[in-house]
Amino acid sequence: MTILTGNTNEIIEQARSKLCAGELVAIPTETVYGLGGNIAIDNAIKKIYELKNRPNNHPLIIHIASAEDLYIYATQIPKYVEILAKKFWPGPLTFILPKSDKVSLLVTGCQNTVAIRMPNHELALELIKAVGHPLAAPSANKFMSISPTRPEHVIAEFNNAVDVIDGGICNIGIESTIIDATSLDYYKVLRPGIISVEDLNEALDNKYSDKLVIDKNDIIAPGSHKKHYSPQKKLIRFNSKEELDSLLDKYNNVYIIHYSDFVLLDKELSYQISSNPYEFAKDLYHALRLGDNSFSETIAIEFPPNESKYSAIIDRLKRSIGS
Ligand code: TXA
Ligand code: MG
Repeated sequence: MTILTGNTNEIIEQARSKLCAGELVAIPTETVYGLGGNIAIDNAIKKIYELKNRPNNHPLIIHIASAEDLYIYATQIPKYVEILAKKFWPGPLTFILPKSDKVSLLVTGCQNTVAIRMPNHELALELIKAVGHPLAAPSANKFMSISPTRPEHVIAEFNNAVDVIDGGICNIGIESTIIDATSLDYYKVLRPGIISVEDLNEALDNKYSDKLVIDKNDIIAPGSHKKHYSPQKKLIRFNSKEELDSLLDKYNNVYIIHYSDFVLLDKELSYQISSNPYEFAKDLYHALRLGDNSFSETIAIEFPPNESKYSAIIDRLKRSIGS
């Protein structure tokens, strides 16, 4: 595995030629790094499933570089999708829509719907344009583990198996909001993200009000599990200094991720994360990886308050913990 370097044109050209030859390249996006493959090459899509150890009925998101391409790869596009795409693309919002015949069943895990988004990252957009086809890109991690938000995280996941484009630290840090847009009249949030239900409803003047937020994101996506986004070590939550103290009595060597200004004795085994929800999201997976790489036996994380601005973070943490 190499980190592709050089000037932007050279990086794009190296990555383009690999993707057009059916090889995979890990690509930066504003949410997390994706394991990119050319949707026009079946063998590339098979490699994605193999490398991730992902069940092949678990569908992939395709990434486009121009909003109009939505009409090429999806059909029966509701008015509210047009409004939302105009407002939030390029950005961390994915639509599930009926697929067109330009998208193979291999990409969609045999479903007749496709997940589609336009990422907000210059390198990703340039690369997709250069390839001339959308890139299927699940998060560039092994199945069930934590999504990578830095190039070195991708290297830690896949060793020598794939080249990575260094696009720096992902700005958003958690995966896109996914909405089911297969009804013309209303949408459903399948996976919460930085773009919240409130943001969506506001953009739509509350006309297509969300009927249902599915807490377990993957209900209509087969082959998925409640426990996901998990560090390798046991992850425990705490809500107060008292709860932390009792954890410290119970476990040896706990790596503590916290946002409150607790006085901690062992700086090596702690990490202070911001309480700002955007910064918290951006840093969350990195902090969990630091915990995994430390000599601790367990990781404890201070849970954010149960407020809507933290809902995507709480969703990921609940899945990481598996409850
Ligand atoms: O931010 C993101 O969305 C990142 C970046 C790389 O774009 N990608 C990402 O992909 O998180 P992945 O594969 O790790 O998660 C995609 C989720 C999966 O839970 C999958 O089941 C669901 O989207 N999904 C994909 N296609 C679907 C479909 N046709 N119907 C229902 N769910 C679908
Ligand atoms: Mg993933």
